[in-house]
This record gives sequence, C-alpha cells and structure tokens, in this order.
Amino acid sequence: RILILDYGSQVTQLIARRVREAQVYCEIHPGDVDDAFVREQAAQGLKGIILSGGHASVYDDGSATVPHAVFEVGVPVLGICYGMQAMAQQLGGKVSFADHREFGYAEVRAQGHTRLLNGIEDFRNADSHGMLKVWMSHGDKVLELPPGFVLMASTPSCPVAGMADEARGFYGVQFHPEVTHTVQGQAILSRFVHEICGCAHDWNMPDYVAEAVEHIRQQVGSDEVILGLSGGVDSSVAAALIHKAIGDQLTCVFVDHGLLRLNEAEQVMKTFADNMGIRIIHVDASDTFMGHLTGVTDPEAKRKIIGREFVEVFQNEAGKLKNARWLAQGTIYPDVIESAGAKTGKAVSIKSHHNVGGLPDTLNLKLLEPLRELFKDEVRKLGIALGLPPEMVYRHPFPGPGLGVRILGEVKREYADLLRRADAIFIEELRNTRDEASGKTWYELTSQAFAVFLPVKSVGVMGDGRTYDYVVALRAVETTDFMTAGWAELPYSLLGRVSGRIINEVRGINRVVYDVSSKPPATIEWE
Ligand code: XMP
Repeated sequence: RILILDYGSQVTQLIARRVREAQVYCEIHPGDVDDAFVREQAAQGLKGIILSGGHASVYDDGSATVPHAVFEVGVPVLGICYGMQAMAQQLGGKVSFADHREFGYAEVRAQGHTRLLNGIEDFRNADSHGMLKVWMSHGDKVLELPPGFVLMASTPSCPVAGMADEARGFYGVQFHPEVTHTVQGQAILSRFVHEICGCAHDWNMPDYVAEAVEHIRQQVGSDEVILGLSGGVDSSVAAALIHKAIGDQLTCVFVDHGLLRLNEAEQVMKTFADNMGIRIIHVDASDTFMGHLTGVTDPEAKRKIIGREFVEVFQNEAGKLKNARWLAQGTIYPDVIESAGAKTGKAVSIKSHHNVGGLPDTLNLKLLEPLRELFKDEVRKLGIALGLPPEMVYRHPFPGPGLGVRILGEVKREYADLLRRADAIFIEELRNTRDEASGKTWYELTSQAFAVFLPVKSVGVMGDGRTYDYVVALRAVETTDFMTAGWAELPYSLLGRVSGRIINEVRGINRVVYDVSSKPPATIEWE
C-alpha cells in the first residue's frame, strides 16, 4: 500500500484516486502524523509515500514539516509541490520564498533520464528534449538541490520543476501529476507506484471487502450498530458491508416519509430484509410528515420540516435500541471536507449525511463510516461485490426530501400518488430505451431524471370528453458534479412515448412538458 500524507491541498483526494486507478491501495493521512505512525505503517508492508501539495510556504510559522521517519523507513517518496519543497528543505536543499503562488499550464522539460520520467513525454521540443504538458504551481521555488539529488525537470520560470535521488528513491515534482491537466499525470504516478515502489496491481474489491469487514469487526467488537437506511447507494452499500461484518449486531432504520418513489419501501424491504436477512425497522411515518406539511408552500420551509421530522422519527427509533453504541453512516470520500490549513489536517470535519444530520451529537453514539475512503464509483463496485442488485447500485441520486421538492408548493398525498406513477413510467421508459450510437440505455446516459408535479390544471380532450387536469414536467440532466448540468437531449420518440403513457395511464394528468433549462441558471430540482 501507499501512504499519502496530506498537507492541505485541495486536490489531495485526486492523488488517491489516481493511485487507485493504478490498482494500488492507498490511504490519506494528515501530514502531521508522528514518526511512530510512519514506522508502524512501514512495518505493515508500506511500499511508498506521497507527500501532497498544500497552500503553506515552508517558511510560514508552524508550517507542517514532514515526519523524519518518512525519509528513514527505506521506502520511495514522491513529493508534490509543497511536498517537494518540504522534502528539499528538510533534506538540506534551499527553497526561495515567494509572496504569492500562481497556478497554471506549463511545459516542462524532462532533464536526463530518471526512472520516474524516462520515456514519458508529450512532445519533443526543437532541441529534441522530451517535454511534458503539466499543471504547475509557481510560488516558492527550490533553489538548491539537497545533497544526493539531481535535476529531473525544469521550466524557464521554475528551474527546479523536478528533482530525484534515485539511490534512495526520493522524487519531487513542482507540478501536479494528479490533475487531469497534467497529460501524463496518470503515467507518472503509475510509474512511481508500480516500478519505483514495486506495488502490484492488486487493489481489487474482493480483497478490499475482506479488509473492510475485518476492520469493522475490530472497531465495533460486540457492540450494536444502528444505521439510517434510505435506499440510496451509499447507505445501502454501507448496510450491506456492515451486515457482512457483524450480522445481527446491525439494525437499520428505514423511514418512509410518504415522499418516496413508487414501490420504493417494498423494494428496500425485499432487498435488505428478505434477501439479505438484515434487521430493519420499517417506520411508516407518512401521516406524520403529511400532517406537518399541510398548508406549507415555501420550498425551504418544506425542506426544514422534512429534515426535522426525519431526525425526530429516527431518533425516536434509535432511542429504543438501548444497546446501540454506534451510528453508521454512508459518508463517502467526497463528503469528507478538508479542513482549512495544512496544520489542522487532522481535524477533517464531516458533512453530516443529509438524512441524518444532527444525530451524532444528540444520540451520543460513536460514528462508524466504513465508506469514508471511497469514491462513488468505488462504492458502486463494492456494492456489486457485496451482491447488491445493479439497478440499486447504479441508481440516480434521489434527494433526502424526496418528492417533497418535486411537488411544487403544498405537498398533498393525492399529488404524491400521481407523481409517483408518472415518475415510474418515465424511469421505466428511460431504462428500456437504448441509444443506438452508444448502445447504452437513456437511464445510463442521464445523470438524474424524474418527473415534477405542477399543481396547475389545464384543459384537454380525451375520447369524447373534456378534461381539466394537472401537468407533469419531465426533467433529465447530464452532469458529472451536479454543480452544473445540461438538459438531456432525449429522443422525441422517447419523450412522445412517455407523454402518451403518462396521460393514458395516470388519470388526473392530461399534459406533459419537457424541461429544457440548464443549470445554471435553473437548478436540477424545481424547488
Ligand atoms: P439542485 O436542485 O440544487 O440539485 O441543482 C443538485 C443535486 O442535489 C440534489 N438535492 C438534494 N439532495 N437534499 C438532498 O439530499 C436536498 O434538499 C436536495 N436538494 C437538491 C438534487 O437531487 C441534485 O442531485
């Protein structure tokens, strides 16, 4: 395994991502771990260490120093940006101080043949030197190489853009190989972990499952664990993993707020309770939620009520489990927010899972977050390895407040029932229709798709009669980060079929429209 020490860079998690893409297991730890920690890791088969970038200058008061053991345990070390500067300074080189730092595209010349960069290049310059297109951070610079190091890469404005001590396996790069703007970044990191550190391509799910299971068992011992299961990917995978580890010591609480998709509660119970034998307390709290939502039209007020009631109901159920000592959450890596400075790297705070926010404090339970190290696609692979149905693992995200933010204005049971049926038809057609060019279904080609209930009535004609019924809007978007999104260019034939089915099959809806707004300025949800 590879140890990544974090000095506060925004892109540290990308290093982990790239290392794992090279099929090597790695873990990120704060940059200020002590020597004993590093030695212990080394004793457990550590193969290499990567020092991340960071905002600090090695000249800042109290800027993080790299634990000495990093350079003493006999494994290769790669310093990136701040990591290289800290390495240079601690090993006897010189770093010049700059007030500010600039990030940007640069073309770096690879000097000489180092094992890290040999043969890796984007193009040749006029002098036939290998050149790399990289994302570079300029600012503090290494002025003098530490003893034993040779120059590995340079640019006119950054004479030491890379350095190497091949005998010890120490490398430093001023640019960021982990970002995609560095074209050969993956190749460079892969070279480091495989050829220099000697890691095998062995980060795979079955091994990870075994490790994670063992870890959970050690963590909780014979304690009982409670988990809020929403049916979403993260909490589902967390439930399956924890159940594999500790069986009936896990109890899940599934709260049905009456704003779920069609047959969702039944599906969750079938998958987890019937098929996997997980203990689940199924709370049908729809009356309570509907009661509190009566007369409320403001979107944020609706969200708050749903959130508050959710906590209330969950807490009530959790309180009955007298022996529970742990609260499990499906927090995944992107949810783990890095704290501000490099110095406080240890104090990573957690974005509370939207469905169970506020619970840890009030319930006095310890947090169990077995997915904390994983990216979404890894969580999905883990789910498959644990035997969860692919339709569940590759599901579009669904907001915590559910249909509550997809029924505009006041939420009524009647509206929710109509919306559920319309939405199910839309999703079914998306799943059943393939795009010929890619061979993928439109469900796979969209990032999120759903129906929205508009509480306005319009006139229609059906058979011999006039209708005066509600409108449903269809929304389908393509996005990778959900911060920006484009509306999906669904085929007209598909839209036509969905519209026809909804109007024919869902009495009470006589008009279907398609939302062609992108985000921004519109949001994905309508509320
Ligand atoms: P917007 O509508 O802000 O949505 O473009 C971006 C993503 O966030 C989801 N979303 C929510 N998820 N609670 C959640 O758990 C919420 O209150 C909430 N509001 C929006 C939305 O479904 C989309 O994926």
